[in-house]
Amino acid sequence: ALQLKGRDFLGLIDYSPEEIRYLLDLAIELKRKQKSGEVYQPLKGKSLGMIFEKSSTRTRVSFEVGMYQLGGQALFLSKNDIQMGRGETIRDTAQTMSRYLDGIIIRTFGHRNVVELARGATVPVINALSDQSHPCQALADYQTVLEMKGKLEGLKISYIGDGNNMTHSLMMGAAKLGMHFTSASPAGYEPAADIIQLAKEAAAQTGGRIDVLRDPREAVEGADIIYTDVWASMGFEEEQKEREKAFKDYQVNEQLVKHAKSDYMFMHCLPAHRGEEVSEGVIDGKHSVIFDEAENRLHAQKAVMAAIM
Ligand code: CP
Ligand code: NVA
Repeated sequence: ALQLKGRDFLGLIDYSPEEIRYLLDLAIELKRKQKSGEVYQPLKGKSLGMIFEKSSTRTRVSFEVGMYQLGGQALFLSKNDIQMGRGETIRDTAQTMSRYLDGIIIRTFGHRNVVELARGATVPVINALSDQSHPCQALADYQTVLEMKGKLEGLKISYIGDGNNMTHSLMMGAAKLGMHFTSASPAGYEPAADIIQLAKEAAAQTGGRIDVLRDPREAVEGADIIYTDVWASMGFEEEQKEREKAFKDYQVNEQLVKHAKSDYMFMHCLPAHRGEEVSEGVIDGKHSVIFDEAENRLHAQKAVMAAIM
């Protein structure tokens, strides 16, 4: 049997293929329950703390509503409004909060903050985005693919653009799920070498494949899914101008998508910049599933919380 109670959810790397598939199936089941009006409240009386050091629309709303639907409650804790913003250590914050809460999510810059919080806390900690990874989004995205394509194994997902937190989590997820992941990023913006290495090792266990490339056209050849994300992530806004130059040949547009399969899906974690990383025609076109992904944040995170809390 799977042992998920009490676990942290810091990255897909810590979860086996079976555990990830279990979470995806549970997400689909919880979505069905919610849509049919069935009340399911395994977290009645439980409380979730949500520490945010960066902005959020989807993550904040979906965790807060998800916790409510599961019978519990959520507290929004802006980093600037808690003592952590004045220098209280993450370790003391973690220990204090563990006395009140049944789970903590954190959105922060340095991934080491996530790890430190998890180390100090005695309740499960969930990574709600760090500069290194965004596993909740990747889980919701693979739920979306599974629902729409009916399978994951063997599908080709091509990520175009900045080798960022999304790239890392999608790459690791694809590796665990036996998919073919390709990416194309300009020089200097490649995904992290250590994560590529770990993803390749995971892919070797599942029949998946990871190809980190330079040329967008080569990367999207025959793709089932094309994914992109902003050129300047949160915390990199001051690099916007130089990034626009570096990424000018990396826009997902009508020309590029011609090289994918005719029934390709377009995906983006949002928020998006139309006319930069993706053309308006593609992101608002009939292949785009961006709001299904956004919706599935709710269901996928409910699955994670129901499983580990
Ligand atoms: N995709 C995502 O995490 O969106 P938010 O930044 O709005 O939470
Ligand atoms: N890569 C983006 C994702 C936002 C959900 C960022 O970190 O800003």
